[in-house]
Order: sequence, then structure tokens, then C-alpha cells
Amino acid sequence: MDTLPANVVLGAQWGDEGKGKAIDQLAAHSDWAVRFQGGNNAGHTVVVGDITLKLHLLPSGITASNCRLVLGCGTVVDPWVLDQELERWHALTGEKPEGQRLFISERAAVILPFHRLYDSADSLVGTTGRGIGPAYRDRTERVGLRFVDLPHVVDDSEAIQSISERMNKQLVTVGVEQAIDPEQLQSEISWVMGRFSDAIRPTGPMLDKALRAGERVLLEGAQGIMLDIDQGTYPFVTSSITGRANATHGAGIHPGHIEQCFGISKAYTTRVGNGPFPTELSLEGGPGKQMSEVGHEFGTTTGRPRRTGWLDLVVLMEGQRINGHTGLVITKLDVLGGLDELKLCVSYELDGEETQSVPASCEDYARCTPIYEVHPGFPALSPEEWIALADESRQGGGLSVLPEAMRDYLARIEQAIGVPVVSVGVGPDRRASIASSDGPFDVLLGEATF
Ligand code: GDP
Ligand code: IMO
Ligand code: MG
Repeated sequence: MDTLPANVVLGAQWGDEGKGKAIDQLAAHSDWAVRFQGGNNAGHTVVVGDITLKLHLLPSGITASNCRLVLGCGTVVDPWVLDQELERWHALTGEKPEGQRLFISERAAVILPFHRLYDSADSLVGTTGRGIGPAYRDRTERVGLRFVDLPHVVDDSEAIQSISERMNKQLVTVGVEQAIDPEQLQSEISWVMGRFSDAIRPTGPMLDKALRAGERVLLEGAQGIMLDIDQGTYPFVTSSITGRANATHGAGIHPGHIEQCFGISKAYTTRVGNGPFPTELSLEGGPGKQMSEVGHEFGTTTGRPRRTGWLDLVVLMEGQRINGHTGLVITKLDVLGGLDELKLCVSYELDGEETQSVPASCEDYARCTPIYEVHPGFPALSPEEWIALADESRQGGGLSVLPEAMRDYLARIEQAIGVPVVSVGVGPDRRASIASSDGPFDVLLGEATF
């Protein structure tokens, strides 16, 4: 069989690992960039010189102007958020990609105001409040609306009436006082159809055709494996399958297409929202504060402070088991500069026993205490020094330009996970990466071309 290559970028922790930056780098060599799950709970940052893009629904591959973009069948799409993002993109670049190079799967689920209202009642998980869980729940319950369904209900007053009644009953159960007005719902559906009719397409068959024609597809994960609904730290997870197995399914193509699968991990750990976090540190002082301050660890979507902690190799091992990464990207190594020592969690102790897996029960997980290995730290470098090192790496030095203490730290990660580190992030800018020579991340991206 001919190779029909699709590559995947996935979060290997609890999200915000720096997927946006990795996708921006790979998009330069991709013909398509596809979101396959999640919605605007995602916040992906791409920094190009003075420009900082914060992308929620638009695929991060938008930075490569010849890359076509898809919101796949596995996503949940808030049309109003997408509209605002497109407006911002238009103001920045003058481009209107919708229907030209941005396509929305006809099978993608529509997030309606009801879903946002329902999500606003969450107090357990600490969700992003964007209606993601309720929209997936409606889809699973088979009462949700996909883009392809909108024309079938828009003129059916009875259907609109019964949808509104169901929504209002549910809002009451979670104590939300606002109610859905059927007429307004009808006009909202009508607006969505008008706004996005050019972009709504059978994107699975489109991608299949493109792959057959030899075009390269980049599948963009959102969130991270520890937030996976099946494999993550349930119930403190998101409501979609964030792992590799869903990358092709949520894009409407088969798994045989996957060639390379990159797991993105910070050189430490962060988490937004509730749930156990064994290697968590205090934000008030010491290394946890440094990670928070130097790493600007605030949620891209909600602005909440991210919790910080040492790198947890047990988490990365779980991600490896589920996703079979072919390469790791370790981001934000620069943030650890100046710490005397670096700790790596190599296993947990649970009720007197040592374990190297994440327990399925969060009650058990909360009782896990980390067992650390201590590594020497390395000095802090200025952003200019890091970029100079990155430039040196692109002149053929690859990862060998990194000082020994950093290489040892990375080598220990590689050894534990059994997968090579293919790129190391040393700053937010797209140029601030040190990649293995001739690997997929050995790219020189300069000024913005969008
Ligand atoms: P994503 O959700 O995985 O795309 O990650 P986010 O964009 O939510 O969060 C990652 C944050 O770290 C963003 O502010 C990035 O600009 C920043 N970032 C990414 N890689 C690096 C890096 O190597 N060093 C530093 N200092 N910042 C980075
Ligand atoms: P990116 O793609 C970090 C977290 C929320 C909450 C839980 C459930 O930027 O890495 P949800 O709104 O999805 O129902 O919230 O998941 N969460 C994220 N944390 N990065 C994300 O996305 C996240 N998306 C959801 O904080 O704990
Ligand atoms: Mg993010």
C-alpha cells in the first residue's frame, strides 16, 4: 500500500503543552491541518515575532497560507466563537478563509447558547464553561444538532418548540434561571446556516481524496491524554477522546494513514481546573512560582492560573501506552533555567506500594505520592541567548548544541519513555526550538507570511 501520510500532534499531559507552536512549525510542510476533537475549550498559542495568535477553534495550521483547514466530524463548534475568531483573523490578515480554505464537517456538533448556559452550572470539574461537555452529551444522547441537521429543523416550529422545552427543563435541573426562547433559537439557527453555508462540507471524503492524491495531512490534537474521557483522570477530564485513536476517526479517515505521532510535553507539568496532580508545587514560592511566572502559566482560554509541578514520567508513560508516540517534543525547557536542581517523578507510592501507572480512581490517584529522581539544574539564559542556540542548532548542530545538564535531563526522559526527543522548546517564538537535525521539526520559520 502506498504511504498516505497523516501526522498527529497530541498533548501528552493535561493540556497547554505547546501544541500550537509545534503545529505551526509542522504546518509549513502540510497541505491540510485538521482539528478532530474538542472545541473552543482549546487555546493554542502561536508566537511569530511581535504577533501572538491565540487560536481556539481555527486550526493552528492557519499560519501556513497554503494549508487547508478542517474542523472535523469529531469536533464541537460554537458558531459565534468561530465567527469572532474569523473576524479577528480578517482584521489581522485581510483573509476570509471560510469556504475558501476553511471547511467545517457537516457532521460536527453545533454548540448552542443552551450548552454554554448548562456548562455554567459546573462546579465539580472546573470546566472552561464553553458548553463542550453538554454539546457532546447531546450528541451521545442523539438529540444534538450537527451542521447538516440545521436545514431540517430551522423551518419546523414544532421541532424547535420541543428542543427548547427539553433544554429549559434541563436548565432548571441545574439551577440556571435563564431560559431558551424558541423564536430566538430559530433565528440563531438560521444565522448559523447563512454564516457558514459555504464552509459546511463532507470533510472526511475530502481528506480521503486529498490523501489519495498524495497530500499531507496534519491532525491537530486539543487538550491532552490525561484529559481524555476514557483514559484520563476521570471525572476531572474533558468530554472527548483526546488520544491518537480518535485522530483519524474524528477527521473521518482511517487509522492506517498515521505515519508519525508527536507527543508534546512541557519540561515540567501544568494543569488547569480541578483534579489530583501528584507532582504539584506551591505557586507561592520556589520552583512552582518560577514555572508560573517565567512560563506565564495562565490559561489561554479562561485566564485562570495554571497549577504547576515537576515533570511526571508516569504521566508520560501512560501517554506512550495509549498513543504510541513516535517522537516527543519537550517544550519550555528555558523556564527551568536557574533552578538548582530538577526533580523527575519516576513512580508513585500508593498505600505503601510502588507503582508506575495512574490509578483509574481519582480517590486512589489523590493518595499517590511522587517518588523523585534529582537532576542537576542549569543556568538561566536570556531569550536572545536561547534563540542564538536555536540558530546554531539549525546550522547542523541539532540537539547537540544543548549544554550537558540539559541533554542528560532529556536523555532520562527518552530512556523512560523509549521514544526520541525530536524537538526542544526554548522560548515562545516559532524560531525558539532546538530540533534533531533533518527531523520534521528542523525547519526555519522566519517572519509571518499571513
Ligand atoms: P497548547 O494549548 O498546547 O497549544 O498550549 P498553550 O498555547 O495553551 O500554552 C503554551 C504556552 O507556552 C503559550 O503561551 C506558548 O506561547 C508558550 N510556549 C510554547 N513553547 C514554549 C517554550 O518552549 N518556551 C516558553 N517559554 N514558552 C513556550
Ligand atoms: P488545550 O487544547 C488545558 C480542562 C479544563 C477542565 C477540564 C474540562 O489548550 O490544551 P471542558 O471545558 O473541556 O469540559 O473542561 O479540562 N481543559 C483544558 N486544560 N488545556 C486545554 O486545552 C483544556 N481544555 C479543557 O480546565 O479541567
Ligand atoms: Mg492551551
